[in-house]
Amino acid sequence: MKEVKLETVLNVYDGLSELPHDIQQLIDAAIKARENAYAPYSKFKVGAAILLDNNEIVIGSNQENASYPSGLCAERTAIYYAGAKYPNAKILKMALTASSQNQVTDAPIPPCGACRQSISEYEIKQEQPIEIYFMGAIGKVVKSNSLANLLPLGFDRSFL
Ligand code: THU
Repeated sequence: MKEVKLETVLNVYDGLSELPHDIQQLIDAAIKARENAYAPYSKFKVGAAILLDNNEIVIGSNQENASYPSGLCAERTAIYYAGAKYPNAKILKMALTASSQNQVTDAPIPPCGACRQSISEYEIKQEQPIEIYFMGAIGKVVKSNSLANLLPLGFDRSFL
């Protein structure tokens, strides 16, 4: 038996003002996108903004459904849209923000497991890490240099 230790390194910023201007702009785009969330059931609005290597910013927000599992998270709405519209562009950075109507969302909200799996697919496909920034509505911002940091022991195409 051998014990295996997995380590993740993240950067935690105290607030938006600590980040470089281009990242603030990407997060601003995610905040704007969040307003277009359709979240009448959870009252939890999520916004995502993706910067591509062609300089385009693609946005997404969560879209819910009366048949709950038919809804989709903001991250996947955005990344599938990016893949559909710019299939050859590489994804450089992704910014995520979430805001609950039930409480002050001051903790950084990480992408859910299904979204990590979906983002991972694109990171592996493009053979280049995707920088991920995530926050709540206010407060600290967390940066991960790649999706792989957020999904240890991921399932990928190499197993197929
Ligand atoms: N949600 C996202 O959009 N992204 C995540 O990573 C976590 C959850 C959405 C799905 C649902 O509309 C609401 O937040 C509550 O789960």
